[in-house]
Amino acid sequence: MKVCVIGTGYVGLVTGVCLSHIGHDVICVDNNEEKIKLMQSGQSPIYEPGLTELMKSSSQAGKLKFTSDLAQGVTHGEILFIAVGTPSLPTGESDTRYVEAVARGIGNHLNGDYKVVVNKSTVPIGSGDWVRMIMLEGIAEQQKVLVGAGNLPSKAQETQANFDVVSNPEFLREGSAVHDTFNPDRIVLGSHSQKAILMMKKLYEPLVNREFAQDSSLPKVPVVVTDLSSAEMIKYAANSFLATKISFINEVANICDRVGADVTQVAKGIGLDSRIGSKFLNAGIGWGGSCFPKDVSALVHTADDYGYEPELLKAAVNVNMRQRLIVLEKLQHELKILKGKTIGLLGLTFKPDTDDMRDAPSLQLIRQLDRLGAKVKAYDPIVSQSGASHGLSGVIIESDVAMLADGCDALVLVTEWKEFLELDYSKMAKLMVNPVIIDCRNFLDNQVVKQAGFQYLGVGC
Ligand code: NAD
Ligand code: UGA
Repeated sequence: MKVCVIGTGYVGLVTGVCLSHIGHDVICVDNNEEKIKLMQSGQSPIYEPGLTELMKSSSQAGKLKFTSDLAQGVTHGEILFIAVGTPSLPTGESDTRYVEAVARGIGNHLNGDYKVVVNKSTVPIGSGDWVRMIMLEGIAEQQKVLVGAGNLPSKAQETQANFDVVSNPEFLREGSAVHDTFNPDRIVLGSHSQKAILMMKKLYEPLVNREFAQDSSLPKVPVVVTDLSSAEMIKYAANSFLATKISFINEVANICDRVGADVTQVAKGIGLDSRIGSKFLNAGIGWGGSCFPKDVSALVHTADDYGYEPELLKAAVNVNMRQRLIVLEKLQHELKILKGKTIGLLGLTFKPDTDDMRDAPSLQLIRQLDRLGAKVKAYDPIVSQSGASHGLSGVIIESDVAMLADGCDALVLVTEWKEFLELDYSKMAKLMVNPVIIDCRNFLDNQVVKQAGFQYLGVGC
């Protein structure tokens, strides 16, 4: 099928590349010319395991193209994905200006051929109908221009409004986005149009049949067909549930710290109950990234707009805010005064296997340590390697872990990069003023680290 994906970030690029890999003819559009040039040269603007290889093979096969020309993409695609960002406004609500610009742009370029317009971006409830309205405005604008030029064919607007909107929320995780796309737990499709749903089912057929899955013997991927609003709500509810689950285990961890229990054993003990499940029960420094914080805030905002006080969601956010700073309490307990001390951070990105720093817990920690007068150094496998500072201030980026450890009063493991399991902790301990390590992910083998000469502190254990 002919597909156009508009917005080539973590979601759009992965979606475009994976759809081309399963056989579709894909054009990816972005208004960032630099990104387009980079992708046309075969390079991915983001770090995502496995993505560059697929991108190259699809491009070579002629199945994947990149352009900054929206008109070209709209003309090409029978299915048009909107996959631009929807960041938080200071009020907590979702900033939908990029979605609006794209919807209007699509309307400006429709030519009467039937199109399915898919909201892949996470958008507030009601956005499906709103996108339709903006597209109709875009069509009217196009018509005005045509009338001005004196060459409007009759009934043009009616003919051009030949489209349906589908909500198709995305559930991929950064760091495993390609894997998640080929191995989805479910596919959600919300629309009033049977025709559009049938086309979306055809598009996803190879994934539903697990033709590209790690385990092709599993039953077919469930396809959940709903109305537009329910599909939009499924996305917010899923992220809010997962975020709340993490806040729950973080709260339990803080109680464990006080009563002397071990939250990792507690998580195992409760996770084996199939009603609870073992995933997303890792206590730590709190949830961050580009989605959980903004999506929970957006749902809180929607509830407020409709006169409902979302107490549980607000509590999940508050627990998370507090959790991000638990490490400061631990540092103050161990080192007393932080002014004049040197703290080394292992990891900066919000999770491993990504270069994404959006709302990373490390940023807040750096700000607070800086405010308290500590010197902050950091080593991160991606940030240190790329030399990109990601606009980080108040932190010295070291190029290896020995330089990080040198002269430190404490280390804080912020991101659970796999390579941190294999470090030479004995060497690092000897380079430090005070060999203390706070493992904010309960990731390291505490016996190994203790034998290397460290005083080890986890979160809730
Ligand atoms: P992103 O910021 O990484 O990428 C957005 C892209 O859209 C950028 O490349 C930007 O240049 C482009 N863009 C903006 N305006 C444009 C326009 N008018 N025309 C063409 N391109 C334009 O965003 P992301 O992380 O990929 O997220 C996209 C959406 O998907 C968001 O709504 C997000 O909530 C949702 N989502 C993200 C993830 C994730 O893991 N990042 C997962 C599920 C859902
Ligand atoms: C999350 C969801 O998992 C995806 O399904 C969703 O598509 C995506 O948000 C989105 O909407 O953007 P992502 O943010 O990439 O994916 O990463 P996660 O693995 O979910 O981690 C989110 C945050 O929770 C990270 O800061 C992570 O460190 C933290 N986390 C996760 C924990 O603290 N404990 C856990 O047990 C799991």
